[in-house]
Amino acid sequence: MLNIRDVRTSYGKIAALKGVSLDIREGGLTCLLGPNGAGKTTLIWTIAGILKAQAGSINMGGDELVGLKPHNIVTKGVVTVPENRLVFPEMSVLDNLHAGAFAYFKDKEGVARDLEDVLQRFPRLRERSGQMAGTLSGGEQQMLAVGRALMARPKILLMDEPSTGLAPIIVEEIFEIIGGLRDEGRTIFLVEQNATLALKYADHFYLLEQGHVTFGGQPGEVDHDELIQRAYLGARKAS
Ligand SMILES: Nc1ncnc2c1ncn2[C@@H]1O[C@H](COP(=O)(O)OP(=O)(O)OP(=O)(O)O)[C@@H](O)[C@H]1O
Ligand SMILES: [Mg+2]
Repeated sequence: MLNIRDVRTSYGKIAALKGVSLDIREGGLTCLLGPNGAGKTTLIWTIAGILKAQAGSINMGGDELVGLKPHNIVTKGVVTVPENRLVFPEMSVLDNLHAGAFAYFKDKEGVARDLEDVLQRFPRLRERSGQMAGTLSGGEQQMLAVGRALMARPKILLMDEPSTGLAPIIVEEIFEIIGGLRDEGRTIFLVEQNATLALKYADHFYLLEQGHVTFGGQPGEVDHDELIQRAYLGARKAS
């Protein structure tokens, strides 16, 4: 569905992605594991067009995404749920959800239908629909970030560490939501440091280390303990 080939992205002189190639398969959950600073967020922002790839190709069904403006990438159906959720704290839950549908504001009926779907999926967002997003709990903000992304009519959801900063029981809940989206046949690219949990849900995974994809496969094919160790090793080194 999305084919990434030899993508390079730098911050000034600092190379963060040093030729990354991977495939996000349609109707599955592809996980990207890797320690702090590996380049995971950089890859998400590069796919989303917010950071510019200096080289390489990101292809979706024959369309090249490198060089497109971020909002054009969103309207092609590549929608990001960013790291740390980034909901608009001083806007209501409803306004945050409407913000996700920015490209469809003329289609009022369609947006109303999408909104009803999201509120059915997340009853807690309905209960809190008038509340400022900044007053929600971390787990609720994560649901809101997912709901906002669904309002953008995604063909692919890019999710950057949805478990960050959440209590373990809430993380389980968020993963159940992600698993549910996958079971509906949605295409999801999930960046996670929580390798143990990610491998429970993933159909395919890749390991990113220092800007390189060093490993990939299906969770059933590999020794989880070794992989989990590698996914965290850099994190220990960095601290
Ligand atoms: N704005 C920036 N300016 C300069 N260097 C940056 C910037 N953002 C990230 N980097 C560097 O790029 C590399 C990759 O960072 P990135 O945030 O993509 O890693 P990550 O895998 O998402 O890490 P984490 O697990 O901590 O979220 C790191 O070495 C980081 O220091
Ligand atoms: Mg990151």
